[in-house]
Amino acid sequence: MKKIDVSISYDKVEEQELTPVEKSLLDAARKATYRSYSPYSGFSVGAAVLLDDGTIVEGSNQENSSYPQGICAERTAIFYAGSRYPDKKILALCIAARGTDGSFTTLPVTPCGGCRQALLESEYRQKSPIKVLLYGLDEIYIISSAQQLLPLAFQL
Ligand code: THU
Repeated sequence: MKKIDVSISYDKVEEQELTPVEKSLLDAARKATYRSYSPYSGFSVGAAVLLDDGTIVEGSNQENSSYPQGICAERTAIFYAGSRYPDKKILALCIAARGTDGSFTTLPVTPCGGCRQALLESEYRQKSPIKVLLYGLDEIYIISSAQQLLPLAFQL
């Protein structure tokens, strides 16, 4: 038997260290939280996707009284980007979230497993990495690619 260890590496950065484009993407993700429809969880998530022509598209979580029919902010944004701009590459995705008290989470919000798999699909499709920025009031993480977020991912 051989034991294999898999690890995820990411950068922890300060907001002042972000490039102007990254800062715009973060602002878009934060703004998108205000368009969340989340009456059941009270957790408002915003996602912003940066395309290779500089376009930023946003998404937010959209819930449903039949819970599984709701969708996360990340997938809303990625699927919108894929359907509206199918030929553009996604350079980066940023996520932010606010809780029931209305303030942004102190720690970065991290994408659920389903969204990681969906993001990875975009990465495979475009054959280039997607940078992921995770926002929290106290900490911001930057992950170099979706692949980092999902070791041993399912692949057909
Ligand atoms: N949610 C997201 O939008 N993104 C994630 O990565 C995790 C969870 C949403 C789904 C649901 O509307 C609410 O947050 C609470 O789980």
